[in-house]
Amino acid sequence: MRKKVTAAVCGFGIRGAEAYAAYQHIRPEEFAVVAVADPRPERLELAEREFGVPRQQCYTTGEELLAQPRLADVMIIATQDRDHVRYALPALEKGYHLLVEKPISPSLGECIALREKAHQCGRAVVVCHVLRYTQFYQKLRQLLDQGAVGRLETIAATENVAYWHFAHSYVRGNWRRQEDSSPVILAKSCHDMDILRWLAGSPCLRVSSYGSLDWFKPENAPAGSADRCLDCAVRDGCPYDGEKIYLDNPKSGFRSGARQWPLTVLCPQPTEGALYAALRTGPYGRCVYRCDNDVADHQVVNMEFAGGVTATFSMSAFTQGCYRTVRLMGSMGELEGNLEENTIYMRRFGQPEKVIVLDPVQDEFAGHGGGDSKLMEYLCAMVSRGGRDALTSVDVSVESHLMAMAAEHSRLHGGASVELAAFGI
Ligand SMILES: NC(=O)c1ccc[n+]([C@@H]2O[C@H](COP(=O)([O-])OP(=O)(O)OC[C@H]3O[C@@H](n4cnc5c(N)ncnc54)[C@H](O)[C@@H]3O)[C@@H](O)[C@H]2O)c1
Repeated sequence: MRKKVTAAVCGFGIRGAEAYAAYQHIRPEEFAVVAVADPRPERLELAEREFGVPRQQCYTTGEELLAQPRLADVMIIATQDRDHVRYALPALEKGYHLLVEKPISPSLGECIALREKAHQCGRAVVVCHVLRYTQFYQKLRQLLDQGAVGRLETIAATENVAYWHFAHSYVRGNWRRQEDSSPVILAKSCHDMDILRWLAGSPCLRVSSYGSLDWFKPENAPAGSADRCLDCAVRDGCPYDGEKIYLDNPKSGFRSGARQWPLTVLCPQPTEGALYAALRTGPYGRCVYRCDNDVADHQVVNMEFAGGVTATFSMSAFTQGCYRTVRLMGSMGELEGNLEENTIYMRRFGQPEKVIVLDPVQDEFAGHGGGDSKLMEYLCAMVSRGGRDALTSVDVSVESHLMAMAAEHSRLHGGASVELAAFGI
């Protein structure tokens, strides 16, 4: 029987609780949260009530948690983007293995410092690039390894963020301002940089990028609109209206029966009254044209990898659905797929198309196409056998962070090509 893995969670917000601690409910024999840190009392109450964390092991800051002797096998660091490394370094010194949310940090220096400390301390540092753990991308990687398309030459990938998700996270929410979080190409699309690096099978050599914040600005506010959706005279015609997004969205709105993210960001236990109160006074009821956001709402990146594989990537706020697509083009055929549909189309040149329908993702494994829970399954297996060979180690993750940072640099410098070997070092 495998040893049960224990975790201390630093930052018991949406990701800490819903994506990672929740694994305890699916596989209680494999994993348990034994300590948490979060300044919000309601999050500590949640940890005690829903996860059975003893009150004396609920701390109000990461510092307080780290002042204790090591309390678990793993520390999960799920604080905000700029607060990962300052907890990760002392946690490694204390002897914890780490699961660190992405982006590791918007500072390349901090990313490299974490990589070096992980080597010095001989601990595993797994970065939450959850997409690598999905059936969909694992199948694509396997098909490439089996030579399904001959020699890979080109990749085209898109990240369709969805208009409502973009408005929630990158216009009204925590990732709207670069100085408080990170550029969107790092905050959101470091996942995509990581997947492209993995599928290309070799390091990225150079990138160029274009894009801007074009739409979510005051000059695009419709005549007659107001600072808040609930006061707005023209909200009937506005898809970004908070009531439409949080109450009436047929998939994720409260009236459809949904109770999870993004509603839990507005209020931990969503009720109709609490959601209206949040729309009346909180950040998520603000007009999308009158927020203090500055991150790009669409961006493209061109890449060249060692060995000659090229890739194009496009991130856009302006899509109906929230999904990723990828097309892998090789000397003997192509593979095309959509993560949300969990289906891959294989076309070997001159032969009939083969459709590969992957197993449906179980409800409890739903986050990121099953990637959130599969990452936890992988982490528990690795730690319980004393391993450190993470699929999304800090070493490989620093590469994708560097790609995203170089892309942002290019975007801000007229799309000039940036050589990764010389960038930021
Ligand atoms: N891997 C993914 O696919 C993915 C998806 C979404 C978000 N993220 C990343 O996960 C991280 C967390 O995002 P989230 O949506 O859970 O945000 P969140 O705001 O819900 O959670 C952060 C938590 O940290 C707590 N916190 C603040 N200061 C603290 C301190 N000093 N000590 C301990 N806790 C503290 C906050 O109270 C909050 O509960 C971010 O870096 C984000 O970019 C990753």
